Amino acid sequence: MKQFAGKTAVITGAASGIGRGIAEWCVHEKVRVVLADMDEAALCAAGDELKALGAEVLCVPTDVSEREEIETLAQKAFDTFGGVHLLFNNAGVAAGGAPWEATWNDWEWVLGVNLWGVIHGVKAFTPRMMAQNTACHIVNTASCAGLMAGGSSAPYSVSKHAVVALSESLYLTLEQRRSLVKVSVLCPGMVRTNIPNAESHRPERLRDETRPVSATMQASRGTFEALIAAGMPPAQVAKIVFDAIRKEQFYILTEAKWMEAIRLRTERLMVMENPENPSAVLGTILKHA
Ligand SMILES: NC(=O)c1ccc[n+]([C@@H]2O[C@H](COP(=O)([O-])OP(=O)(O)OC[C@H]3O[C@@H](n4cnc5c(N)ncnc54)[C@H](O)[C@@H]3O)[C@@H](O)[C@H]2O)c1
Repeated sequence: MKQFAGKTAVITGAASGIGRGIAEWCVHEKVRVVLADMDEAALCAAGDELKALGAEVLCVPTDVSEREEIETLAQKAFDTFGGVHLLFNNAGVAAGGAPWEATWNDWEWVLGVNLWGVIHGVKAFTPRMMAQNTACHIVNTASCAGLMAGGSSAPYSVSKHAVVALSESLYLTLEQRRSLVKVSVLCPGMVRTNIPNAESHRPERLRDETRPVSATMQASRGTFEALIAAGMPPAQVAKIVFDAIRKEQFYILTEAKWMEAIRLRTERLMVMENPENPSAVLGTILKHA
């Protein structure tokens, strides 16, 4: 897609962080925006702020882990604006720990939002976008954690590897059918967002009364918060994303230092060397950040 003005974008997780940054960039490109988020108060506030900038905005409170809610989102977006040209399956949460320490609720919550949320978006929007027979683009937000081994947050890492696989599959099948719907997978490094407070979005039914927190989990949380605080601003990520859409670039990586970590992981894989402790890689990256 080269021309954005007058097109319509749907963004999930649009009330905060990367989604909010992408929504603002859409407005800058004169794109109409459909904002979806489960945090209704933050969603309304984001909608009002974008309207004040002169944007055409539709806010649809949506829990992406619920199939019917994404279906409603698609219906409302197409009914209101007559078409959707850009879809950002972006909503996500982070939680977990080592595979056996992450609770059943951690697994269900993180996979429900990060993986099923993207599957729901792909299933609801792709056929409708294909039927429009016009240039469209879908961007799924994964993470660098989807391209390298992650030890400290197993559910997150599993969900993001799966989003990369889903996106590659979507890209390849749409290319095979010569579709006008293009695909990218966004794998950011660290971005300065509210993701360390993701727990506040966890539904009541998936909360744990007594949640074991090991010393390892506590230490890796500290590293995570430090990396996020030193992260890239969401507006910069949004610019990188739009440049990639213009170039029909599938893999969107945002930072050289994270690409280096992915390269090291891939090199080990190619010679069948065992994985390196990811916290050692993170520590080295943090030291040189
Ligand atoms: N921040 C980073 O460093 C980073 C790095 C790599 C990937 N990501 C990914 O970027 C995406 C956006 O995260 P962010 O960092 O901007 O975090 P954020 O917490 O600032 O924003 C996430 C938004 O998603 C919403 N949300 C949470 N659960 C939802 C649900 N079930 N349905 C709908 N909305 C829901 C939240 O209300 C919030 O507004 C996520 O997929 C995350 O995994 C973030």
